[in-house]
Amino acid sequence: MTAVNPEQDGSALLKEARQCLERAYAPYSQFPVAAAVVDEHGRVFTGINIENVSYGLTMCAERVAIFTAIAAGAHRINAVALTAEKMKLVTPCGACRQVMAEFCHPETPVFLDTGTAVPRTTTVGDLLPDAFTQDNLNQPFPVSQASTAG
Ligand code: THU
Repeated sequence: MTAVNPEQDGSALLKEARQCLERAYAPYSQFPVAAAVVDEHGRVFTGINIENVSYGLTMCAERVAIFTAIAAGAHRINAVALTAEKMKLVTPCGACRQVMAEFCHPETPVFLDTGTAVPRTTTVGDLLPDAFTQDNLNQPFPVSQASTAG
């Protein structure tokens, strides 16, 4: 955990991610991934993918970074950066997009390593339009509405 404030600087946040890429535990896929996130206090947390011999237990780098931040007391994630050793452009898997939707604003920037000095910048909302959010839980189910009517 470091205390820089690279929310507006995708390159700086990607640098943080790249620095921990070597710690990825990916003996099965040989596909190391690393992520860095910034919380609402400007704290930076990093994560790497952690695989398991029971393949389905593998945890992605983005979720390791986000969950580490939340476990350290963060409530919001204000920026995400993602890099992979073997791909010029890596994009987050669907599960990680859903976890981002839980802790990020739709406008939260996501910086994707392109293998060049200039990251591709997208947003959580662009990566997961119409996300399932807490608002969905508060929508009454039409049938229960009908059964309690009158
Ligand atoms: N992986 C991530 O860490 N993040 C993603 O968003 C995509 C996939 C990891 C999981 C697995 O260890 C490896 O990449 C190959 O799927």
